[in-house]
Amino acid sequence: MPRFVRVCPAEELAEGQVRMLEADGTKLAVCRHQGKAFALSNFCPHLTGNLGEGFLDEGLLVCPEHGWRFKLSSGRCVSVADRSAHPFPVREEEGWILVGI
Ligand code: FES
Repeated sequence: MPRFVRVCPAEELAEGQVRMLEADGTKLAVCRHQGKAFALSNFCPHLTGNLGEGFLDEGLLVCPEHGWRFKLSSGRCVSVADRSAHPFPVREEEGWILVGI
């Protein structure tokens, strides 16, 4: 069972925003799309680019380095087969975003 850790106040993650945040030392790319928050590992499986410095395009998280694109819910890379960024479960409770690690 993951342990859910507060990563930031919910109001500090705007629609369409991507942020690099930490949960107990684990670096995450946290974003909000269509009102829902998502978290993937910060590190791109290509050459460890910081996904938390990436951006959203058509509901996909885009790596700022070479543009690989990732599904928010599964972390699956749609640019290259059989690659993915590890997804983490996210909850919003009492005005906070919590990530399960
Ligand atoms: S490091 Fe992410 S696409 Fe190359």
